Amino acid sequence: MCGIFGCILKNGVAAPIVHAALKRLEYRGYDSVGEAAIYKNKLFIKKDQGKIDDVHAVHNLANIPGRIALGHTRWATHGAPSQVNAHPHMDCHKQIAVVHNGIIENFAEIQRELEELGHVFRSKTDTEVIPHLIEEELKDGLPLSEAVREAVKRLEGSYAVAIISVREPNKIVCARKESPLVAGVGEHGIYCASDIPAFLPLTNKAVIIEDGEIVVLADDRYEIRRISDGNPVLREPEVIDWTPEMAEKQGYPHFMLKEIHEQPLCLRNTLRLQEQYLDLMATFLERATEVYFVAAGTSYHACLAASYMFSKVALLATHPVIASEFIEQHGKAVNIDSTILAVSQSGETADTLAAVEWARQRAATILGLTNVVGSTLTRVARAYVCQQSGPEIGVAATKTFTSQLSVLSQLALNVAKRRGKISHTQIEDLEEKLQQIPDIVATILETQEAKIRQLAEKYKDKQCFFFLGRGISSATALESRLKLLEIAYVPSIAYPAGESKHGPISLIEPGFPVVFICPKDETRKTIMGNIMEMKARGASIIAILEEGDEETKKIVDDYIEIPTGFPEVLSPIPYVIPLQLFAYYMSVERNCDPDMPRNLAKSVTVK
Ligand code: F6R
Repeated sequence: MCGIFGCILKNGVAAPIVHAALKRLEYRGYDSVGEAAIYKNKLFIKKDQGKIDDVHAVHNLANIPGRIALGHTRWATHGAPSQVNAHPHMDCHKQIAVVHNGIIENFAEIQRELEELGHVFRSKTDTEVIPHLIEEELKDGLPLSEAVREAVKRLEGSYAVAIISVREPNKIVCARKESPLVAGVGEHGIYCASDIPAFLPLTNKAVIIEDGEIVVLADDRYEIRRISDGNPVLREPEVIDWTPEMAEKQGYPHFMLKEIHEQPLCLRNTLRLQEQYLDLMATFLERATEVYFVAAGTSYHACLAASYMFSKVALLATHPVIASEFIEQHGKAVNIDSTILAVSQSGETADTLAAVEWARQRAATILGLTNVVGSTLTRVARAYVCQQSGPEIGVAATKTFTSQLSVLSQLALNVAKRRGKISHTQIEDLEEKLQQIPDIVATILETQEAKIRQLAEKYKDKQCFFFLGRGISSATALESRLKLLEIAYVPSIAYPAGESKHGPISLIEPGFPVVFICPKDETRKTIMGNIMEMKARGASIIAILEEGDEETKKIVDDYIEIPTGFPEVLSPIPYVIPLQLFAYYMSVERNCDPDMPRNLAKSVTVK
């Protein structure tokens, strides 16, 4: 997600410090950059779309006067990357500058209200409501910190914000809900940032700002209060002994592990998608004669799972297709009545774009699901939604998969409502379960990680693995297989479990590890049969099963437990988590680099 930095220096000019801090945030990925500073009661802003060095070459980001300044690297979610959408954002009278990381769910409603009061909006971002809200509160004569406190109380969603204003030019006011925020207390100044690496060379004394808190930085002091009631919070700085490299990974040894742990937050963000975007996509999907889900790698596995979701929930048949095969397999059948939903984290995968281009030339409707607003896919799609999971740095897609699944299941539910094929109660139940998923994923991470690590130690020398699941779990099996083979270099096989006896079972010999994904769903009886078949041939069975599934526990060698009561169509999200961790720890045990597997690139832009 976006990077934030702010600083109040005791002496000197802040802009070069902000510029250097933004460079330290570059590793997170971004599409635009900006700075604001206050000097002689005037606000100075420089911002643009593009890489820091390119924006610096044009605007000289180190050359802004003033000892108080903010900086921002943007990862677009609302509004394409552009100069006007870059942060900082200002109020009508250019007195307040705001940088923000997060998603404001109710921005459209607040914007409407503020426009009725005469506010003029310049950008297409959700963030811009914040300076205008503060402007409104300041009209009532509140001090800046109180105006910010009142303003953020109106916000639904997630935010870390830093604000400066010429009204109180010696302060930075910050507030946090869900998105990370930390203050740094240094010898030469005081800082705020979205992550510690931004200020680590300046100070190692950090104050973690908690959810629901507002902090005012002024000269060399900081004052924390609760947003809800304004009561003060006392918190001493802690000394951070991380190296800059460790700090970028927030203390995790690898980006992949950090990203696996980010999934509860990412999933919460996916649930903040604007209904209007889902509605638009659903309208196209509902109208289509033929729907193709087109993607590569992990994104294809999300499409495969989505085809089960659409069939079971919306009673709509869809074709999940591997992008590089699309033209050969379906090219001639594509026409004006076809709808292609292309799913691509990067939005730049050459095979996916080639399939899209083919379909576009045949007048098909192109829809997109991507993580990168402004990517080629968002430019060629008739409509798109963003998976909202922020930059993924580890080459192996992890938070991408679960975020895509969450968005696709929301789409399936939206189409289901329109088609009226399942009952309202069923839909409401699924929606409720979807809301619970972030917490369930957090529980799995908290309770199962140590055990998974032990499993990786136990199985690290195995030469080959089988991954088997039935129904929608066969997509989970394929994705888990891909993770293990790509980062731990363990040749592995995944099949729908029913298919295993049509050939692959001949590989089984005593001790051969077979991973079964076995939620207690409609496939239960048959998957138990498949487990017995493997067991009879001496396989070592590892099961991902539901808590309290004593029957399965008795017959398998090892198991990982998932909280009970999950609807089948949502099960790939919780069930893939332990297997992402398993692949990660296998990679570490086998002395591989999980973040940078050999021969692979994050974005595959060649066919
Ligand atoms: C696997 C992985 C790749 C990508 C694939 C598609 O961990 O990361 O298989 O999923 O290259 O990439 P996107 O989603 O960017 O089109």
